[in-house]
Amino acid sequence: MGNYFNPVKIKINTLDVIENVLNNLNPELRNIVLLTRGGDFSESPSGSTLTKCLEDFEVKQLDVNISNPDVEDLFHYYQQIMSFDYQCIIGIGGGSVLDLSKSLASLKNMDIDSSTTLRSVIEQKRYIENKSIVPWIGIPTTSGTGSEVTCWATIWDRANGVKLSIDCEKLYANTAIIDPTLTASLPMRLTASTALDALCHATEAYWSRNSNEISRIYSLEAIKRIVNNIEKVLTHSKEIKLRNEIALGSLYAGLAFSNTRTTACHSISYPLTLVLGIDHGVAASLTLAKVMELNLDAIIEKEKLFQAFGVSNCKEIQEFIERIHYIAGFSSKLSDYDANLEKIEAIAENAFTKGRMDNNPVVLTKQDVTEILMSIY
Ligand SMILES: [Fe+2]
Repeated sequence: MGNYFNPVKIKINTLDVIENVLNNLNPELRNIVLLTRGGDFSESPSGSTLTKCLEDFEVKQLDVNISNPDVEDLFHYYQQIMSFDYQCIIGIGGGSVLDLSKSLASLKNMDIDSSTTLRSVIEQKRYIENKSIVPWIGIPTTSGTGSEVTCWATIWDRANGVKLSIDCEKLYANTAIIDPTLTASLPMRLTASTALDALCHATEAYWSRNSNEISRIYSLEAIKRIVNNIEKVLTHSKEIKLRNEIALGSLYAGLAFSNTRTTACHSISYPLTLVLGIDHGVAASLTLAKVMELNLDAIIEKEKLFQAFGVSNCKEIQEFIERIHYIAGFSSKLSDYDANLEKIEAIAENAFTKGRMDNNPVVLTKQDVTEILMSIY
C-alpha cells in the first residue's frame, strides 16, 4: 500500500532564498511575525542575513528563549501579536520555535482572552475551523524535530501534567528552508539529543502501523545517514559535510513520520520528559531498542531496518545508542535522572498517548511498559 502526502515546498539552500520564497508566497505580503531562537541570534551572521532579507517588510520579532513551550507560553506570545495584522509567520530555530510558529499561525483572529480559553481551543481543536490561519515558513537551526515538514505541534500543559497537540493538515509549512550551516554552532548535547530524536522518528515511522512503501524508504535513508555520521559530527562539529548529512537525515525522518506519526518510544518519552526532565530526543531513544525487541515479529522487512543501522540484532542498537549517550554526556539509566519506583509507576501510567501508542505495531500493556522502564532503571 502507498498513500503518501506532504505538501511542504522544501528548499535545501542558503537562508537568503527566503526573499524568493516570500515573493512567491504573496507579492502583496507586508506584515510578518518572525520567531527566533533568541540568545545571540540577532547578532549572528544568520540573524544579519535575515534582517537584510526582511528590510522591506513590517516585522514583529519574538525571541523565544524557552524550550518545551506550554499553554501559558503560547498565550504569552499570542498576546504580543494579537493586535498585529500578520499575513505570514517565519520561524527560525529548534523544535520549540517551529512548534510555536505553527501554533500561532493557527490562532490568528481567534479572540482568545486567557490561557484557560486557549487550553479549551486546543483541546476542542477549534483552530481547525479558523478561516484566518496564515501560512508559515520553517527554518530549522537544529537537525531533529522534523516540525518543518509535519502538521502538528507539541504544546505542554504543565499545570495538568499532560502533553497537548495542535494538529491539522492546514498547518503544514508553506516552505521549509534547510540550511545545514545554521546548525554548525550547535553544542554537542543538543546535536546528540536532536539527532537521536530524528533517529527515533525514522525508526518508529518504519514500524508504525501507518507506514507505507514511500515512508519506509525515507525512514531507511534517514537511519543510514544519522547512524553513519552522528559520532563523527559530535567530535567534528564544524564540518559542514557532516552537518549536511545529519540535516538530510532529520529531513527524511520528518518526511517519513509526517505520514505515520510516532509510536511507543515517543509515547513513553512524554512522561519521561515531564516527570524526570529528560531531553526529548534522549527520552525517546532510551526505549528504542527495547521496544524494537517487542515489535520485531510485526516489522515489515525487518532485515532492512537492521541493515540501515549496520547491526544484526537489537542488543547492538542498544549499545550504539548508549555509546552516543556516553559521548554526549547523557546517562542511559533512569536512576541517574532521579527516578524511583513510584515515579516509574507514574510514567508507565501516563505512557499511553492517544495517536502515538496506538500506532505501535504490537499492543503494549502497562506491564510491558513497566518492564521496559525497569530494564533501563
Ligand atoms: Fe520527537
